[in-house]
Amino acid sequence: MTVLLVFGLFIVIVTAHNITFLDVPQYGDPRRDVELTCHYVSEPGDPALHSVKWYRDTNEIFRYTPGQQTRTFNTSAGGATRGSCNLQSCAITVTLPRRYNALVSFTCEVSTEGPRFAVVNQTKFLTVAVTMKEDPLVTGLAGSVQLNEDILLNCSTAPAMPPPTLMWYIDGIPEKTEPWMNDNTEMSPADEFGLRASWRPIRFRVTTAKGVITARCEATQPTRPPYSRATNATIMIARSPHLSMFTASDSGGRRAGVLLVVCMSVHIFSKYSALRSV
Ligand SMILES: *[C@@H]1O[C@H](CO)[C@@H](O)[C@H](O)[C@H]1NC(C)=O
Ligand SMILES: *[C@@H]1O[C@H](CO)[C@@H](O)[C@H](O)[C@H]1NC(C)=O
Ligand SMILES: *[C@@H]1O[C@H](CO)[C@@H](O)[C@H](O)[C@H]1NC(C)=O
Ligand SMILES: *[C@@H]1O[C@H](CO)[C@@H](O)[C@H](O)[C@H]1NC(C)=O
Ligand SMILES: *[C@@H]1O[C@H](CO)[C@@H](O)[C@H](O)[C@H]1NC(C)=O
Repeated sequence: MTVLLVFGLFIVIVTAHNITFLDVPQYGDPRRDVELTCHYVSEPGDPALHSVKWYRDTNEIFRYTPGQQTRTFNTSAGGATRGSCNLQSCAITVTLPRRYNALVSFTCEVSTEGPRFAVVNQTKFLTVAVTMKEDPLVTGLAGSVQLNEDILLNCSTAPAMPPPTLMWYIDGIPEKTEPWMNDNTEMSPADEFGLRASWRPIRFRVTTAKGVITARCEATQPTRPPYSRATNATIMIARSPHLSMFTASDSGGRRAGVLLVVCMSVHIFSKYSALRSV
């Protein structure tokens, strides 16, 4: 009885190829073709590979049958433009629709020869978006910084789509936004691909007694999942005793010679951060 059961299980496992890895990027730039790869293995004793099919949503876009010509379907409407497949993997190139934030599903389906014609498939989703390639840029850090002085910083991001929303945190506290300003992020007009640059200035007065202020700019694209990158800037505040010493010896009476050290540390989120789940 036990022997029979184990034997039955063994049959089920060996008759299917197994998809080991489906490589579909999380975000796809519609300005260029995207490569997708399906990796699969067969166990010793498996029947031969019958075919590999790719689907975009529920439409078949590509078919590979060993020993036959590969076929592409629906090439005009965001299908596969070309493919390169063998008995271990099948890579295709697809064009994406310019519908930003659209979620497109890609399925790889692998079937084996008879008698059972076992079929396995795996699906992954891609979000059409041009994500930020760099961290936000913080400018305005040059100049002297001392107690009771106003600082104007500007945070900006290169053109992306959907455009990121920017948030400032001064010493970890989010910038106060008034109810009538629903969003302080400013955006450039769309370029020829629909991309927009974002920026957000902040003005604040140095009131802290500490010697240092951290200003953090967080840029988040409202994609599914959201894509975030951030930059931390550390501002050193010149100490008053030094300041009076320098200003006293400065004949021009200007604030020349104020000891100022400004350093910036850039925090790279090399990976997207999923702030909320899909
Ligand atoms: C496919 O491979 C995965 C990971 O190696 C394994 O967990 C799974 O049981 C395999 N499935 C089949 C049907 O062999
Ligand atoms: C091509 O795609 C359209 C929708 O994008 C779909 O209606 C049609 O059935 C597809 N054709 C094939 C052959 O899958
Ligand atoms: C993938 O397989 C499941 C069953 O395992 C099936 O319901 C689904 O329709 C398949 N998807 C595609 C796109 O063939
Ligand atoms: C902030 O940067 C943006 C983009 O470079 C620029 O258009 C804007 O004028 C700047 N704003 C301030 C207050 O510096
Ligand atoms: C940037 O600041 C945030 C919060 O203020 C902190 O969690 C993070 O570790 C900082 N990153 C770096 C590289 O200092």
